[in-house]
Amino acid sequence: MKKTDIEKLQRNNIKNLQPYSSARSEYSGTGAIFLDANENPNNAPFNRYPDPLQLKLKNEIAKIKDVSTDHIFLGNGSDEAIDLLIRAFCQPVTDNILSIDPTYGMYKVCADINEVKFNRILLTGDFQLDVSAMLKMVNKHTKLLFLCSPNNPTSNSFRENDVMKIIDSFEGLVVLDEAYIDFSRHRGFLNKLPEYQNLVILQTFSKAWGLAGIRLGMCFADSRVIAVMNKIKYPYNVNRPALAIALEALVKNKQAKDRWLEEIINERERISKELTKIPCIIRVFPSDANFILVKVKNPGTIYEYLKNKKIIVRDRSKVSLCDGCLRFTVGTAEENDLLLKALEKMD
Ligand SMILES: Cc1ncc(COP(=O)(O)O)c(C=O)c1O
Repeated sequence: MKKTDIEKLQRNNIKNLQPYSSARSEYSGTGAIFLDANENPNNAPFNRYPDPLQLKLKNEIAKIKDVSTDHIFLGNGSDEAIDLLIRAFCQPVTDNILSIDPTYGMYKVCADINEVKFNRILLTGDFQLDVSAMLKMVNKHTKLLFLCSPNNPTSNSFRENDVMKIIDSFEGLVVLDEAYIDFSRHRGFLNKLPEYQNLVILQTFSKAWGLAGIRLGMCFADSRVIAVMNKIKYPYNVNRPALAIALEALVKNKQAKDRWLEEIINERERISKELTKIPCIIRVFPSDANFILVKVKNPGTIYEYLKNKKIIVRDRSKVSLCDGCLRFTVGTAEENDLLLKALEKMD
């Protein structure tokens, strides 16, 4: 078991913070006359504040993920968890964060907002981790290390040994973003949580579950890390409709989610193959996610051409190591056919 002194890692002001105590955290029972939270007594159920700790939903997530509820934080998308981790553990100006390049942009944006220096190590030519360069970059002020596997926008997963070497060696918290893990050939690192107190895993309802609109992200970590996040979050950070929709999805829509996953993965494999036959495409990178990165001859022209046909893709050509690249999310079979047909007409 790798031990981590979570108490020591926290910023002092967070350690000493007296958190807000909401009405629903002081009394969470049911069937009472609620005159404590200045709610309107009409318009049930949305007149009532939601459960600040989302226990009903966490109990269902705990069953599916095989972790206990005190190891789960739920937030307004994974983005909330990213921001809270930085606010809890990084002293502005003094501390720093280490991550990779290219990767998901919100780690740097949240670091910048919090005035925390964000250092990045370029991935290798085959989009893998440069572990020794990363570990060399660590200093005593490096509190968080952000990884993303499968990585956005490169779409590949990192080698398990490399990720483990980083978790083993780094003394701060390793935040591993697994937003795309359901589409991956790899099982992810949730099963490592009991052994590593410094491991934090992000997952989301936005991708495989098809619920980007409700803004619900999951964070799995040591219960002391989760307690710090709960201490500083806004009291009712996940709203009642989002809780109800997610609970219904977990209880009733698991088969639909599994069917969508199968369809998306099949489509990913099909269009990855078809894209290699298209003249304007120079290279199709192997994908372990629900999007495909392709290198094209002229990304700006192709992006505009597709946009004029109302097919919107992501131009990633200005991103490190992604020179000339566009990113295509895997859509329905019909949508993907329209994309392929449009691209075939390009030189
Ligand atoms: C790697 C990664 N993490 C997190 C997110 C955002 O997740 P959420 O919708 O839960 O905020 C994205 C969105 O594209 C992503 O690519």
